[in-house]
Amino acid sequence: MTTLILNGQTHEVDAPDDMPLLWAIRDLVGYTGTKYGCGKGLCGACTVHLDGQPTRSCITPIAAVGDRRVTTIEAIGDDPAGASVQRAWRALDVVQCGYCQSGQIMAAAALLRDNPSPDDAAIDGAMRGNLCRCATYVRIRAAIHAAAESLGQEVS
Ligand code: FES
Ligand code: FES
Repeated sequence: MTTLILNGQTHEVDAPDDMPLLWAIRDLVGYTGTKYGCGKGLCGACTVHLDGQPTRSCITPIAAVGDRRVTTIEAIGDDPAGASVQRAWRALDVVQCGYCQSGQIMAAAALLRDNPSPDDAAIDGAMRGNLCRCATYVRIRAAIHAAAESLGQEVS
């Protein structure tokens, strides 16, 4: 058995060491907000946080997680940056088909935690690995700016 600390709760999962974290999250624990896209670390749809760092769960073996805390889209709203990103996403109606969006939100929340007021270049750099077939990139960038502004207002 492997112990996962997932969204603040401990889960014992019966998984081989090389099972990708994505499958443990989706199939063994049952959180399905994290999506499978390419399975090769190339698209970002499967992005979760490990101790706050955006991580591709499709290429992370469960044995490599160790005691790091896993956060998925289901709990990112508990984090101030994550909540701000989700509000901005709704306000700017970012989502089109939605498939890539949990990964986009996880990447954006991690960016704002590290850099509370990113410029366009910082946003583009942080989000480069998160692909969107619906090309919502312009709204994603605008929503990250809006989330940063609202986070700044909460702090001041
Ligand atoms: S599904 Fe993990 S990066 Fe594409
Ligand atoms: S919203 Fe459809 S792939 Fe991004």
